[in-house]
Amino acid sequence: MHQLIPIVSPFFLAGTELDEQPDWATIFGNHNPLVFEIGCGIGDFVAVMAARHPDWNFIALDFYNKGCLKSCRRVERLGLTNVRVVRDEARNFIRRCLQHASLQAVFINCPDPWPKRYQRKRRLVNQEFIALLQPYLAPGGIFTFSTDFDDYGTDVAYLMSRQERFANLLAPDLWRHELDGYPRTKYMLKFMAEGKQIFFVQYRRVTEEA
Ligand SMILES: C[S@@+](CC[C@H](N)C(=O)[O-])C[C@H]1O[C@@H](n2cnc3c(N)ncnc32)[C@H](O)[C@@H]1O
Repeated sequence: MHQLIPIVSPFFLAGTELDEQPDWATIFGNHNPLVFEIGCGIGDFVAVMAARHPDWNFIALDFYNKGCLKSCRRVERLGLTNVRVVRDEARNFIRRCLQHASLQAVFINCPDPWPKRYQRKRRLVNQEFIALLQPYLAPGGIFTFSTDFDDYGTDVAYLMSRQERFANLLAPDLWRHELDGYPRTKYMLKFMAEGKQIFFVQYRRVTEEA
């Protein structure tokens, strides 16, 4: 049986040990807006964003233990008190630990592409996932997706363009290869170094009446 390296950090939370619907204001010690990164990897993106936005609370989630450990070390090193690194599976965590309309932003950067055709059903972001995620975004909340994999980028771009409750922030484009000031992640840098382009897709959840 594979042993998990224990993570001892004031910024770490094991999702399975969290209460259902935890009180995030108590966890962070304030009522600042909640931002959620899914698949935070080594925590490079959340570290830049949390330093830029000290008045936002960041939940950085990954089910990869070593990534959570590296993310915690980075957050500690930089003294970022507005980040909590959660080890959990994204869909389980969303259902168990978040409240509807509680997220001001969701970021998903370079999720596993599952490149072979027969693997595509394993991709995280698809219609079912967007239907799950959508009510957890506050009206006006922003959803940003990036990928280094062309056909994942175009699939998510077309998928999002069909969502009634989301407005395209990059219109008239369905995707862009640049987003001003957007921090580069480890995977983005790796693929950019290979000459690949990153696909960015960005939407705002509209109010129910809109
Ligand atoms: C290809 S890596 C990208 C990491 C980082 N976002 C970056 O751009 O460098 C994808 C990450 O998503 C995590 N991941 C994939 N599916 C997940 C899921 N269902 N729940 C939580 N984390 C997941 C993986 O463990 C991995 O760390």
